Amino acid sequence: MAVRVAVIYYSATGNVHQLAQAVAKGAQSRGAEVRLRRAAELAPDTAIDANPAWRAHVDATKDSVAEATLEDLEWATAYAFGTPTRFGNPSAQLKQFIDSAGAQWQAGVFHNKPVTSFTSAMNRHGGQESTLLALNNVFYHWGCIIVPPGYTDPLLFAAGGNPYGTSWPSGGGEGPDQATLDAADYQGRHLTDIATQLRG
Ligand SMILES: Cc1cc2nc3c(=O)[nH]c(=O)nc-3n(C[C@H](O)[C@H](O)[C@H](O)COP(=O)(O)O)c2cc1C
Repeated sequence: MAVRVAVIYYSATGNVHQLAQAVAKGAQSRGAEVRLRRAAELAPDTAIDANPAWRAHVDATKDSVAEATLEDLEWATAYAFGTPTRFGNPSAQLKQFIDSAGAQWQAGVFHNKPVTSFTSAMNRHGGQESTLLALNNVFYHWGCIIVPPGYTDPLLFAAGGNPYGTSWPSGGGEGPDQATLDAADYQGRHLTDIATQLRG
């Protein structure tokens, strides 16, 4: 049976969405069955409408990417979580989804499943690592096996060399560059390879 990878992310303006797509593609290239899922939007329309890029992304993905459900967590044998930085922490939208998984935690659904994470902040040093470390706190509680990219492939250096997870400083206004998309693709491959080895 193929490894089943759930790539679950939140993105307001599309940067993390692009990283999530690359992670999903990498996992698929290693034979994983993949679900790409977005955490539900929580912000009111007034906030979304105040930022044209946010509105455009919400409209572009509402029908093309399925919303994450708790069943996705049960289905998957490995996870990749993505979120933009919010003041050095994960977004409320992804956290709300995670915080709805108490029953799955209680049932031991997460035990020994490999997990990896990725992020985007506006600034190079605007909280990329702290966001991933904060997500990791959840994974310790879940009893997951955290799979960081580390420096396990030379291509990671070209993407900024973040050993905690792929990260993209979005301040330039354009989406992730090719080196970062390559790192995200690698992260999906790496997660799948580790999950395959763990399965034995
Ligand atoms: C409420 C809020 C808080 C943010 N906090 C930070 C921050 O602490 N550091 C930073 O560099 N960028 C911060 N940002 C910017 C986003 O993390 C950044 O634009 C990210 O690339 C957005 O990803 P997305 O396009 O996937 O939504 C913040 C944005 C918002 C709306």
